[in-house]
Amino acid sequence: MERTLVLVKPDAVQRGLSGDIISRLEGTGLKLVALKMLQMDREMAERHYSIHRGKPFFEGLVQFITSSPLVAAVFEGPKAVEIVRKVMGETDPAQAAPGTIRGDLALGMRRNVVHGSDSVENSEQEISLFFSPEEVLSYERHGERWIIES
Ligand code: RTP
Ligand code: MG
Repeated sequence: MERTLVLVKPDAVQRGLSGDIISRLEGTGLKLVALKMLQMDREMAERHYSIHRGKPFFEGLVQFITSSPLVAAVFEGPKAVEIVRKVMGETDPAQAAPGTIRGDLALGMRRNVVHGSDSVENSEQEISLFFSPEEVLSYERHGERWIIES
């Protein structure tokens, strides 16, 4: 089953939005299979955002993401990557549609409250940076057939 990494970014934790953001994603029916709070160090942030190394916003992005604790989560389900990206909304909150997390809760590019993996290939690598295999749980949900058609 497809899995994706979600980060509730430091701005959202500071603003007390962690529960709201996790709750919006749980509401889709995706299954929460891992959750922890941590503060990223520079090395971890540079690895997580290695695709953006060299870009003008890279240094600011690393400073921001390491500035305070964040919440990391893994969600699982069909098209998990695409569904999370849709609920998050566009990277720039000014372009993000109302009803999306960024559209409702954020104002600017960097302080855009949430991260979600952008592809299935990247998601597994990102998950392994934050969670050991034992920390990603496998469990049956009561009422699964009301969420996912078999
Ligand atoms: P994320 O990785 O954080 O989920 O965001 P994303 O996929 O929607 O956007 P991405 O292109 O991966 O960019 C990562 C983060 O870098 C900041 N950014 N600033 N032109 C800019 O100033 C610029 N472009 C990107 C944003 O904070 C974005 O979330
Ligand atoms: Mg990205």
